[in-house]
Amino acid sequence: MNQNTAHSHSEDGASHTSPVILVKELTKTYIMGETEVHALRSVSFSVNAGEYIAIIGASGSGKSTLMNMLGLLDRPTSGSYRIGGVEAAELSKDRMADLRNTQIGFVFQRFNLLARTTALKQVGLPLFYAGVSGRESAKRAAAALARVGLGDRLDHRPEELSGGQQQRVAVARALVNNPGIVLADEPTGALDSHTGSELLALFDELHAQGITLVVVTHDMGVAARAQRIITLRDGEVLEDRANFAGQNEALPAGPLSASIANGAQNGAAAHGSNHAQLAVGAAMPATAATGGNHEDL
Ligand SMILES: Nc1ncnc2c1ncn2[C@@H]1O[C@H](COP(=O)(O)OP(=O)(O)O)[C@@H](O)[C@H]1O
Ligand SMILES: [Mg+2]
Repeated sequence: MNQNTAHSHSEDGASHTSPVILVKELTKTYIMGETEVHALRSVSFSVNAGEYIAIIGASGSGKSTLMNMLGLLDRPTSGSYRIGGVEAAELSKDRMADLRNTQIGFVFQRFNLLARTTALKQVGLPLFYAGVSGRESAKRAAAALARVGLGDRLDHRPEELSGGQQQRVAVARALVNNPGIVLADEPTGALDSHTGSELLALFDELHAQGITLVVVTHDMGVAARAQRIITLRDGEVLEDRANFAGQNEALPAGPLSASIANGAQNGAAAHGSNHAQLAVGAAMPATAATGGNHEDL
């Protein structure tokens, strides 16, 4: 079965480039004893190859649940989602792992590195698990670490690296299989603002190299880097809009914030919320943008 490609035929037979991520009416219900938690109620959207998307929303709105589905780390309760053209909702555990290994790199808020393990080993392990020889794993791990600017830190353990460097190791680990898609859940959440912006600069590079990026954040300064911003609320998509600032960072602040505001397609106001104001976040420091009216994010 060779569906492992972004190019396919739609149901009506037309040839086109299909989305690398296609989510349809995805739900996830956690059963907690007697209660059901509807973490995702019905989420649908699609992501084209090379897009840079931010997912925002209040704590508990379902962001991590959604990312865990997209990252093939967990299964939905119902609905369908395609990753790289492959229907993922009903894959066996092994096929899920294969798909994850070939398509997805995942970056976590808390880095999730192994203690007492060198950068080279951390990054080489996914390859090694996938059956690549130790020598080849090390070679590719070194290349991935060089790609994130850590070519001179191969033998360092997490405790010998700064937070920003640890997150770069995690990004190198996400990149080592050459995935088309990188998913990051609050990747700057544990970093100071300077280190956070360095990580975002790295994400910009990955985006420029054609990687599809989906980044969960509650920081509008982070979301402003993306080309498109999806807002979740209570397990549903509240808003899905283009962010023109994310496509041209060189724009000056004034016209830029206006153009972002005009970019709102899905009228947050129509949903009776003040989320449209988030649009100005791109032109503001992250802390200001996430304060005030926006603290519910
Ligand atoms: N493993 C779990 N078991 C039960 N409930 C969960 C689990 N993970 C998340 N939830 C619940 O699902 C909802 C969405 O959580 P989450 O996806 O982590 O939100 P976010 O990342 O946006 O903060 C929350 O109400 C949370 O308490
Ligand atoms: Mg979360």
